[in-house]
Amino acid sequence: MAFPEYRARRLRDHPTFRDMVAETTLTPQHLVQPLFVKEAIDGREPIKSMPGQAQLGMNELVAEAARVREAGVPAVLLFGIPREKDATGSSATRPDGIIQQAVRAIKQQTPDLAVIVDVCLCEYTDHGHCGVLTETGGRRTVDNDATLAHLAEMAVTCTQAGADMVAPSDMMDGRVGAIREALDAAELTHVPIMSYAVKYASNFYGPFRDAAESTPQFGDRRGYQMDPRNSDEALREAAEDLDEGADILIVKPALAYGDIIRRIKETFGVPVAAYSVSGEYAMVEAAAANGWVERSDLIREILISLRRAGADILITYWAAEVAAALRG
Ligand code: PBG
Repeated sequence: MAFPEYRARRLRDHPTFRDMVAETTLTPQHLVQPLFVKEAIDGREPIKSMPGQAQLGMNELVAEAARVREAGVPAVLLFGIPREKDATGSSATRPDGIIQQAVRAIKQQTPDLAVIVDVCLCEYTDHGHCGVLTETGGRRTVDNDATLAHLAEMAVTCTQAGADMVAPSDMMDGRVGAIREALDAAELTHVPIMSYAVKYASNFYGPFRDAAESTPQFGDRRGYQMDPRNSDEALREAAEDLDEGADILIVKPALAYGDIIRRIKETFGVPVAAYSVSGEYAMVEAAAANGWVERSDLIREILISLRRAGADILITYWAAEVAAALRG
């Protein structure tokens, strides 16, 4: 059926009607703010490659979390940077580790802010890989199965500290099932898992590795992250995680992966989160600092495009700023 252009224009030209017929909405309820807590510092340390973002000492983290809630953002995603790293990332699983302390402190100060913990070992290991290592044929690689117990223990200790949800980002096979089983065994059956089901080996993570101090000391993550040339593989990864008990699936990065978000959403019809990652943030901020783009309009357009692609949840470093603007 033909739909003449002038008819669309009659609505577009009207400030009320164009909003009424808009297919996609962006409201604070969808937003998640990532925050970095660093054990060794007081106050804030700006992250050079992510202007406007900072690593936060414990006091500053608690204050920032309260501000984020005040801005209208319902949830944060927490990353911890411990004072001491070792081969097995042992501080990730300790009940008094930096991340567990951070969860407790935020929940005490701002109980109605949902706290999601990024479950991964890369910020806690001295080699920067997402799991514990093994040697096969003279080559050091991540030991998938040995890593699962560490991740499960991290998930349990964080939820015991008060986390509302866990988000495993390591990409080990079987981790969602291992975490679900451990949570259930600890009588934490009510705690959902938001799985980084679809995580590409991406250049968009560059700035994050400064932020979380998690650069691999040798090799890269291509062994356990996906090849950007593939999208069928994304469906298989997603199916596997759902099978193991994932409640929400994350697609990461977001900006160049709208097609993946759409395929996952249409194939499975489950809640999907798009993670607009550090490199996406850095690109926009760098261009804006040069006066080459209209910063806040561009940010809106990017986030809307992710919602249009099919994302329910948007994990973005702009969450607090956008929420405040949407409310104002
Ligand atoms: C792993 C993790 C990473 C990100 C989120 N969780 C780094 C990686 O996979 O290398 C990247 C997020 C971003 O770039 O903003 N713990």
